[in-house]
Amino acid sequence: MLFEANQINVQFGGVKAVHNVSLTLQRGEILGLIGPNGAGKTTLFNALTGFVAKTGQVQLEGRDITNLPPFELPRLGVARTFQVERPFEDLTVLENVTISSFLRQTNAKAARNAALTTLERVGLLDRANQKCSELNLARRRRLEIAKALALEPRVLFLDEVIAGLNPPAQAEMIEFIRGLAKSGIGIVMVEHIMKVIMSLSDRVICMAFGEKIAEGTPQQIAQDPAVLDAYLGGIDD
Ligand SMILES: Nc1ncnc2c1ncn2[C@@H]1O[C@H](COP(=O)(O)OP(=O)(O)OP(=O)(O)O)[C@@H](O)[C@H]1O
Ligand SMILES: [Mg+2]
Repeated sequence: MLFEANQINVQFGGVKAVHNVSLTLQRGEILGLIGPNGAGKTTLFNALTGFVAKTGQVQLEGRDITNLPPFELPRLGVARTFQVERPFEDLTVLENVTISSFLRQTNAKAARNAALTTLERVGLLDRANQKCSELNLARRRRLEIAKALALEPRVLFLDEVIAGLNPPAQAEMIEFIRGLAKSGIGIVMVEHIMKVIMSLSDRVICMAFGEKIAEGTPQQIAQDPAVLDAYLGGIDD
C-alpha cells in the first residue's frame, strides 16, 4: 500500500471535525473525497499532511509518518495544494516554484532547473517571469499544483483545484490530473463538481459531519442512500 490512514480524529474545542476516518491509496490511484460544506475534507487533508493535531495513524509505504511535521513530509514524497492558494504575490512564478524545489534539491542551480522543468510540465513555462499577482485563476491553480509537483510527490492531495474554472480550463485540468496518476502518483482529490469526481476517481469516499459515511466506486457512491441524504438534506420515504 502506498499510503494508509487509520482512525484519524481531529477535534476543535468541542467540535469533532474529523471522526474515525480511515483511507488507503495505491500507486497511480485517484481517490475522490466528497461531502457537503463543513464535512471535514480540508481538515482531513490538514491532519494527513501534518498541519493540525490529530490522533490515529498514518503510513507511507509501511513507514509510520504519523508524527512528522509538515516540512518533513515533502521530503518523503507527500505534497498538497491549499484550497485557498497563497503564492508569494510579488515574486515571479519561477521564484515561487523554486522555493518548493529547494526542499528537494541541494543547490540553487538545481532548484531553479527543477522548477523550470515543473513549469513546463504544468504549461506555465511561458509565464515563468511574470508576477503571481498578474495570473488569472486557471494559471494560479496550475501554479499551486506546480509548487506541489516541485516536491516530486508520490502522494498528492488536491483540494478543489477544478471548482471555479471555466469549462475548457476544467477539461484541461482533468486531463492533467489523469496524466499525473498515470505517471504513478497516488492522488486524493477533494472536488465539489460531481461530474468531475465521477469521471476522474477510481474510488470515492463521502464525508458528512466529520465522518466517513460511504466508500465505493463512483457508480456505487452515486446511488448510495446515505450520500444522497447528505447532499439533499433528507429523503422522504
Ligand atoms: N481551525 C479551525 N478551528 C475551528 N474549527 C475549524 C477549523 N477548521 C475547520 N473547522 C471546522 O471544522 C469543520 C470542518 O471544516 P472543513 O474546512 O474541514 O470542511 P470542508 O469539508 O473542507 O468544507 P468545504 O467544502 O466548505 O471546503 C467545520 O465545522 C469547520 O467550521
Ligand atoms: Mg474544504
